[in-house]
Amino acid sequence: MENRKKVIICGGTGFIGSHTSVELLSQGYQVVIADNLSNSERDILDRIETLSGHVPIFEEVDLTDEQACDRFFERHSNTSAVIHFAAFKAVGESVNKPLMYYKNNLQSTVNILRNMDRLSIPNFIFSSSATVYGDCEELPITEKSPILPASSPYGKTKQINESIIEDTFKAENNLAAAISLRYFNPIGGHLSGELGEVPIGPPNNLMPYITQTAIGVREQLSVFGNDYPTPDGTCIRDYIHVVDLAKAHLVALERLINKKNKSFYEIFNLGTGNGFSVMDVIKSFEKMAGQKLNYTFAPRRAGDQAATYADVTKAKNELGWVAELSIDEMTSSAWKWEQNYRRNLS
Ligand SMILES: NC(=O)c1ccc[n+]([C@@H]2O[C@H](COP(=O)([O-])OP(=O)(O)OC[C@H]3O[C@@H](n4cnc5c(N)ncnc54)[C@H](O)[C@@H]3O)[C@@H](O)[C@H]2O)c1
Repeated sequence: MENRKKVIICGGTGFIGSHTSVELLSQGYQVVIADNLSNSERDILDRIETLSGHVPIFEEVDLTDEQACDRFFERHSNTSAVIHFAAFKAVGESVNKPLMYYKNNLQSTVNILRNMDRLSIPNFIFSSSATVYGDCEELPITEKSPILPASSPYGKTKQINESIIEDTFKAENNLAAAISLRYFNPIGGHLSGELGEVPIGPPNNLMPYITQTAIGVREQLSVFGNDYPTPDGTCIRDYIHVVDLAKAHLVALERLINKKNKSFYEIFNLGTGNGFSVMDVIKSFEKMAGQKLNYTFAPRRAGDQAATYADVTKAKNELGWVAELSIDEMTSSAWKWEQNYRRNLS
């Protein structure tokens, strides 16, 4: 009889969820993906299968739809854990459409947790974000750094979700333990070039903007601000390769399944612990792609902090996980994916 542990991945056809699905399937887990394809495409499933050698189960479900969510979970009640990536993530859009963000990002979590309790699915991993730290000036940012008011409704949904999760796992019920993973700046793609980020509309983040400019979809990249108090004047972020990030989910999952967690609710920063400036990323891209990028300096963008990077000691000590891939591997894999993706479109 098959003895593969079943894990539900909400938002599993998205950027980080698809890479995590590949890692889990490759390690022998049975993966059930629930996604409404609002920000991903169905053919990602074929790519996941090709890369992992295993077929994920897929169900098109809107996790904010209470009844559809209930029926989905009833079909998959014999599950060890849920990893929840499903959310809207565009910070700027969330400022203009706060209710859309509160509804999607909070309602989905409530529906998932309610079903987990109801069906005794014990373990939960949540995609949180460095945005929960708000305009934290303490560097590097540790898990104990203050949680300051988030600057966008998107950031607030991550803060509120963390509270919902902590309160729910603290209460007496059928749930065992949860982990929130606070990602810093995930970029890159699968090293094969077969999986990566596909932003719908103009990208909000640096890396897809760079690759789309290089391939000719965008005319020019604007670098917002070159007068920050950083060595080259551009903003510094803690970029992390999406494959490293995906592997951290596997480690967190096994910590929960093997009951190695030290508390019912744990939080880990996930980054490399190193800050790279916008210009560092552009230079790495130009070197790895062997071409010059068309960019210009533009005024600072409201709300951008000069520098943020993580203290990743807790993830290293507790999870035994460290990011291994370099900035050059981040930019080259993102470029490989962009070229591959556009080739398949034409
Ligand atoms: N990418 C980043 O820079 C970043 C940084 C920090 C945190 N995060 C968080 O990580 C998670 C994954 O991010 P990503 O970059 O892979 O995003 P993504 O948009 O590529 O993936 C999210 C997936 O969830 C699905 N989805 C959204 N709402 C849904 C709903 N109501 N029901 C079912 N499916 C739904 C989308 O179709 C998509 O496939 C998100 O929660 C995001 O907020 C991302």
